[in-house]
Amino acid sequence: MGMSRVLVRVPASTANLGPGFDSLGMALSLYAWVGMGISDRTSIRLHGGGLDGIPTDKSNLFYKVAALLHEEAGRPVPELEIDMCSGIPLTRGLGSSASAIVGALYAANELAGRPFDRDGLLQLATRLEGHPDNVGASLYGGLIAAAWDGSRADLVRLDPPERLAAVAAIPRFELATEKARHALPAQLPMKDAVFNVGRSSLLVAALASGRLELIARAMQDKLHQPYRAPLIPGMAEVLAGAAEHGALGAALSGAGPTLLALVDRDSPRLAELESFLLGTLAAAGTEADLIRLEPDLEGPVVLDEHLAPWLAPQGHRKGDSEA
Ligand code: HSE
Repeated sequence: MGMSRVLVRVPASTANLGPGFDSLGMALSLYAWVGMGISDRTSIRLHGGGLDGIPTDKSNLFYKVAALLHEEAGRPVPELEIDMCSGIPLTRGLGSSASAIVGALYAANELAGRPFDRDGLLQLATRLEGHPDNVGASLYGGLIAAAWDGSRADLVRLDPPERLAAVAAIPRFELATEKARHALPAQLPMKDAVFNVGRSSLLVAALASGRLELIARAMQDKLHQPYRAPLIPGMAEVLAGAAEHGALGAALSGAGPTLLALVDRDSPRLAELESFLLGTLAAAGTEADLIRLEPDLEGPVVLDEHLAPWLAPQGHRKGDSEA
């Protein structure tokens, strides 16, 4: 048997990392929390802002995902009391829906007495999300390289280079993944596919061996970024100029609209980079907010219930693991 109530913290993620469309990802130090307990009547409470329009009945994603896990494990679906709170901006390319899926699966798996191992959770999460890059990063933490053939996802997790950090420029508009996927062509020239295979392979090898100086050239992409750039005014200029302003490399984060610059955490040029990012986007008419991030190394963690952010005074959401 599992426990009767559990609190899980799950990280956001960035997908693609440029050339690794639908296959590379990295977990980031922005978090969502899900509390889940067995109850006699299902209730769902959403805490904090930015969650308007999310249903609180059994059509809620967390409930549906938890119910699916129980069904897949051959267990009766219990009534559930669910609390959730997210510090991950929604529909911005930071994997908020993947972290919701992973958080709900992980919490439900704990409640059910762990019928699935991590690979089993990856298979369920990938099926639900449709690609493994965001869910894989949220579920394993660190950097992941993954492939999915429509029925099975294979994944390798890497520790990010120690000095790797990131700056995200988050535009103040939402971009639905579906819309950003519709911008992609059905077919591509062979030379563009070859371009990406080379960059993506080089990027994984550079990250695995700590060759930070290769990242800028390895992060180039011809499969999706050129087609999505018109949806985000200023994106093309940011990607073209970020490395000259102190970034190790830059990419559209997932399907966007967030732009992610990888940086050396000790770089003396972070302020220069940040002003380049904001200035370039502003010049194109895109208002954005900046946030400095670290790779998350842990993936989902079970926390003591008293660390639930909905119990903490406002403004203490990030302090859970240090408390
Ligand atoms: N790899 C996905 C994409 C991530 O770029 O569309 C967004 O869900």
